[in-house]
Amino acid sequence: MPILDLSKPLYFTDDWEIAEKTYAINNPTTGKTILNIADCGVKEAKRAVKIADESFLLWRQKTAFERSKILMNWYELILEHVEELAQTMTLEMAKPIRESRGEVAYAAGFVNWYAEEAKRVYGETFPSHMANKRAMMIKQPVGPVFAITPWNFPLAMLTRKAAPALAAGCTVILKPAEQTPISALLLAKLWQDAGGPSGTLQVLPCEKPAELSELIIADPRIRKITFTGSTKVGKLLYKQSAETVKKISLELGGHAPFIIFEDADIELAVKEVVASKFRNSGQTCVCTNRIYTHSSIVSEFARAYAKSAQNLVVGDPADDTTDIGPLVNQASLQKVSSHVDDALSKGARIITGGKALHGLFYAPTVITDIKDNMLIMQEESFGPIAPIISFDSEEEVLKMANNTEYGLAAYIYTNNLSRAYKVAEALEYGIIGVNDGVPSAPYAPFGGLKQSGLGREGGKWGIEEFLETKYISVSLTQ
Ligand code: SIN
Repeated sequence: MPILDLSKPLYFTDDWEIAEKTYAINNPTTGKTILNIADCGVKEAKRAVKIADESFLLWRQKTAFERSKILMNWYELILEHVEELAQTMTLEMAKPIRESRGEVAYAAGFVNWYAEEAKRVYGETFPSHMANKRAMMIKQPVGPVFAITPWNFPLAMLTRKAAPALAAGCTVILKPAEQTPISALLLAKLWQDAGGPSGTLQVLPCEKPAELSELIIADPRIRKITFTGSTKVGKLLYKQSAETVKKISLELGGHAPFIIFEDADIELAVKEVVASKFRNSGQTCVCTNRIYTHSSIVSEFARAYAKSAQNLVVGDPADDTTDIGPLVNQASLQKVSSHVDDALSKGARIITGGKALHGLFYAPTVITDIKDNMLIMQEESFGPIAPIISFDSEEEVLKMANNTEYGLAAYIYTNNLSRAYKVAEALEYGIIGVNDGVPSAPYAPFGGLKQSGLGREGGKWGIEEFLETKYISVSLTQ
């Protein structure tokens, strides 16, 4: 039996409701409409805030052990439905199916982690300056949360936000990405089936979310915003949240450098850079954007790397053998094409790829003779294009790698341990992969420096974003 029958345009508040308006969700691979989905607006948002506020009073009173149990049920249900969840994701946003299955496990990993972590929200006692006083600190849920998730990880970014929030005792209103609401609705149904109390996790799909978001953010009952998406939208949400002084976590854009030093094993380095660059067809915030390769090995590396890129299977993302699917929409395809065209007009040279294929497909591309003034060096391409830049010294490459307003992820490949530590410490990024092109994991802190964001998701740090610290001073009277 399917997880949820979406023949009607459902959205989820304290129960399943049918929307008055709908919009079409299209499959990026075929261009065909998958189904018409609920299009929530201001009316639904107002009600959702009321529900989130009321259900918070009950949810926060559950013991950590009760919340943990429900999260653990959710985790098990997600794992029971790997195939349906993965197929849905591939249909909605064209992630190659092997990666979609991997994402279900990744998403479930956050739920599992925070089911455990719910029981580890510790307070502290500490010395007072007066003999008759006792001092302590407790942690409490911050309150109702508004979460906005991206299309490139429809499940994992949802659980990376909702699982710690729910574990901490917060309620969540979730606005999934316009392109991927189906995956979010399926997770909400599994939350309900897991015993998630009514109103604790609401899902409001919406085609043009500006008005809905503004209303929710302006409401003082919402105490926390958590967002993954573009730096431009993140800055707007940051401004909007200031009005009611909300806590905010932002996981924004990146422009990741991958530095390959002269002592690297080229074959292994190629493997990691391919994984980091072409994961999700180049559509992750932590995908490599600039490949800095030492001048003594750059020709050898570029040849081997281009060969690997040529071997990637471009095709139907539903096919088990596919490595690269189509881009998510026309705007993404246009951006990728314009980055390559701009680079070519400024003197770059294509080693492989460099062209749009049919539909929304773009060939895996390796490009060289790169200059700093090319768009590819300044903006996130969010597609399968890999620029290779040569460098001569550690000092020079560090300067180039840090020369960006972004600071999410950076990677290095070297066999020199001292260099690995020194460079990892000097890179102005929140995540460093040393000989590791895919460092993300549920147990690790994920987040950026500079304009790549605020706060951390994942691991023991992720739940802190949904907790307030309260100091209690007790004066003994006798
Ligand atoms: C992202 O692209 O925002 C998330 C990528 C990851 O979790 O590795």
